[in-house]
Amino acid sequence: MTKGVRGTRDFYPEDMRVRNWLFERFHSAALSHGFEEYDAPVLETEDLYTRKSGEEITQQLYNFEDKGGRKVALRPEMTPTLARMVMARSGALALPIKWYSIPQCWRYERTQRGRGREHYQWNVDIWGADGVEADAELISVLVHFFRSVGLSSDDLVIRVSSRKVLEEVLGSLGISGDGFSKTCIVIDKMDKLPGDVIESQLSELGLDHDAISTIQSVLSITDLEELEISLGGDSEAVSELKSIFSLSESYGIGDWMELDASVVRGLAYYTGPVFEAHDRAGELRAVCGGGRYDRLIGTLGGKDLPATGFGFGDMVVMELLEAKGLVPKIHNGAQDIVFGMGSELRGAAMRVASSLRSGGRSVDLVLEDKKMKWVFRHAERLGAERLVMVMPDEWSNGNVKLKQLSTGEESEVPFEEL
Ligand code: HAM
Repeated sequence: MTKGVRGTRDFYPEDMRVRNWLFERFHSAALSHGFEEYDAPVLETEDLYTRKSGEEITQQLYNFEDKGGRKVALRPEMTPTLARMVMARSGALALPIKWYSIPQCWRYERTQRGRGREHYQWNVDIWGADGVEADAELISVLVHFFRSVGLSSDDLVIRVSSRKVLEEVLGSLGISGDGFSKTCIVIDKMDKLPGDVIESQLSELGLDHDAISTIQSVLSITDLEELEISLGGDSEAVSELKSIFSLSESYGIGDWMELDASVVRGLAYYTGPVFEAHDRAGELRAVCGGGRYDRLIGTLGGKDLPATGFGFGDMVVMELLEAKGLVPKIHNGAQDIVFGMGSELRGAAMRVASSLRSGGRSVDLVLEDKKMKWVFRHAERLGAERLVMVMPDEWSNGNVKLKQLSTGEESEVPFEEL
């Protein structure tokens, strides 16, 4: 009874302080780029996720029947919800839409370092802009966030590619449409599953041995010129990627980005540029991932609208920040501790606390009779700025004793001047 559900986390106040610190940086990176926040319920109808491309995410669904016999699911990701919300107001929303959110998402995953069964996922998306400028802007949001928590391009790399790379290769091999997204999903698992398993899954999709080695050689490309030689001068994938890399120079974030044709992403709906951030040391799972998904609404039965975005979990980045010693010590938040000496001065202490609170200070009032030693330790533990002591002699003159906790300096000040 004292244990929570496997793969889920409790956030004690000290954990919550760190989580709030992280989320504040998510908020400010998005707000600094003109995004607006939205939210939606964690519970969705199950059919929002019934896609048939063999994606892991659809096999990891927390789904059940509610008391009214409706099939519902806890959202495993935010993108289908966002698509649903955009669809519901289609035509009425001013484009482009630039929205962000920090939803909790649920996936029945094998728990491991950086992966749980629930996580918070910062989502930043742009709808209604079909140029690569939108994709580059999203990468700028990402880098803004990384810099704000003290991470640099020595710590992280954003690997960029485009689904169009594979689309062009597979198109020449006669694979398109549904077969294309299925192939992408198998290819995304290449570094997680043994080679022969991947080969057999690809051959089930109609790819022979030669086709598989053609794909493998293209996927190993990490250089734009080499990609151009492989795909040809008129390749849309190449020109799209060239533009993204040149835009990133204008943003001053070129050193964060690398071409990596093996990035395809494990979700069926991506159609264009895709990217993932990884720790340079290669010890952790992807820090975040995203890309363009211009045809998602169509698969949900609506009229397509170009869209691009990313999802960024709270777990892997915290692993990285902790390993680099970048998580600050965050105190409780009370600026003043107010203590009344003895029960006769309890009322006076309450008056002092109330007046400080009305003045905008955050105040922790000591509620019981405590020894001075306890009060000092308490103030130190909370990391407060000042200790305000209401003592009999001082109070009879309308004064309180004030201790600046950073310097240890003590003085007697009139209550009115606090
Ligand atoms: P995703 O790659 O499935 O993409 O997840 C995005 C990020 O969420 C991952 O890189 C990771 O940081 C975090 N994440 C995912 N699953 C877990 C887990 N079980 N535990 C901890 N963290 C996790 C998507 O979900 C897309 N909907 C992102 C997107 C938004 N694409 C366009 N817009």
